[in-house]
Order: sequence, then C-alpha cells, then structure tokens
Amino acid sequence: MSKLVSDGLTKSFGDLKVLENVHLTIEDGEFVALVGPSGCGKTTFLRTVAGLESADEGAIYLNEHQITGPGRDRGFVFQQDSLLPWRTVMENTVVGLELAGKLNGAEAERVRALLDLVGLGGFENYYPRQLSGGMRQRVNLARALAIDPKVLLMDEPFSALDAQTREIMQAELQRVWEEGRKTVLFVTHQIDEAVFLADRVLVFARRPGRLLEDIRIDLPRPRNMATKRRPEFVALVDRIWKLIEKDVRESVLIEKI
Ligand SMILES: Nc1ncnc2c1ncn2[C@@H]1O[C@H](COP(=O)(O)OP(=O)(O)OP(=O)(O)O)[C@@H](O)[C@H]1O
Ligand SMILES: [Mg+2]
Repeated sequence: MSKLVSDGLTKSFGDLKVLENVHLTIEDGEFVALVGPSGCGKTTFLRTVAGLESADEGAIYLNEHQITGPGRDRGFVFQQDSLLPWRTVMENTVVGLELAGKLNGAEAERVRALLDLVGLGGFENYYPRQLSGGMRQRVNLARALAIDPKVLLMDEPFSALDAQTREIMQAELQRVWEEGRKTVLFVTHQIDEAVFLADRVLVFARRPGRLLEDIRIDLPRPRNMATKRRPEFVALVDRIWKLIEKDVRESVLIEKI
C-alpha cells in the first residue's frame, strides 16, 4: 500500500499560485528528497503534508486517509531548531508524548534509546544552550521520532550547520533511517545531499511549483564518503543541477531586485 499520495495538489497564496497539480506517490519506507529553486513551494508542500496548510484543489492522502490537519502520524523537523530553552534534552524530546498524554516509564525508556540512537546518550540533562548546532538538530530528530510517526517530514534540517557537521549528520541520518526505515520526505537545496540520502529525488520547478522530474537513485547502501566520488553519483548530481539551473538563476535574480 502506498504511504503518501499527492493527488493533484494545487495551492495559492492570494494571487500567487505556489503549487500546481502536484501528483506524486511515496511508497512505504521510501526516503524521498525534494529539491528545487528557492520559492518553488517545497516548504509549502511539506506544510500541506503536515496539515499546517490546506489544499485549494486536490488532496494529500496518508494510507488512503485524506490529510485535513496536523497529527501524530507525521513528525516534522524544521530548518532552525525549535527546542524549548528551559527544557533539557530529555524534556524536549518527550514533549510530543507529553502532549498526547502518553508519557510513561516504558515510553521514557524508549526515548532514552532513541537519544542513544541519534548519538546523544549521556546528554539527556543538558539544556539547548549547552549544545552545538548539530546536537540541537539531533534533538529535533529524536523529538520527531519519539512520537513514532508514520512519516518523517524534514525541511532543510542541516542547512544551518557547517559543511563538516552537515556531512556527519547526513551519514547519521542514513544510519538512523536504516534502523527504522520510516517513510521520509526531505527538503534540501543541496543536490549532493539529496542524492546521497534518497531512494528518489523529486525535482520541482517554479512559478508555479510543480513536479518536473522524478529520479530514482540506485546507488548501493549504506552510502559513505566514497559514494560521493563515484562517477554515477557525480553524474546524477550533474543531471539534477542541469534540470534546475535556469530556474535557480532566475530565482536568484528575482530575489536581488
Ligand atoms: N503564508 C504565506 N503567505 C503568502 N505567501 C506565502 C506563504 N508561504 C509561502 N508563500 C509564498 O509561496 C512561495 C513558495 O514558498 P515556499 O516557502 O514554499 O518556497 P520554498 O521552495 O520552500 O523556498 P526556499 O527554498 O527558499 O525555502 C513563495 O513565493 C512565498 O513567498
Ligand atoms: Mg523552504
């Protein structure tokens, strides 16, 4: 059964048509990356899947149920960490369970194991201000996983990190994903990040945002630094860049005006 289906999603903000007739299907357990020029509607698409925006036309279905609002079957990791500064790592991670009234001893143990999984074992009692940017994003990831969602939605989660930390986080995310094989929809500007992580890369075009191409990434897993030097990897990155290059140049020019 397909996990996530966008059936002709169309969305405008006022006169601006942001997404037009987006048809796509993401299978159970697939890691799908979404790339495209700034302003093509990636965040809007993700927010609609999250139930934070509504569709004008068409609909999104999760396991054949139409999405009409936010729910615990979807976990969201944003670009900037959204941790509560007065709460420890552990207290931040359990916040979703707490809100759902599901925090008990067994769940707390599961969360502790999750923190180990994302490499934060031993940091449970630290406060956000005592963590590096990479560690804060690990907490965000653990928090999204703690509610045991069916789908993980990630909007440029590593873009605020330096290049080396980002490389490490890509490898870590791959490792965590291999453990649970959740369905992931991952937005990024960085094409090499998309190719490194994903089973499929969806390329969006802008004005209006729409699906331009759906590219399967058949590189063997687990992938590592050497993967990025393989000719197939370089060729895929090149191919995707050529697809969006014109749009990206235009979007940069428009933003400068
Ligand atoms: N709440 C809103 N109200 C009005 N316009 C909006 C709103 N949210 C997004 N937009 C507009 O929709 C368009 C798409 O925005 P969106 O944030 O989805 O793009 P994006 O692909 O995520 O861009 P980026 O790569 O820069 O993050 C932009 O032109 C933006 O100004
Ligand atoms: Mg965005």
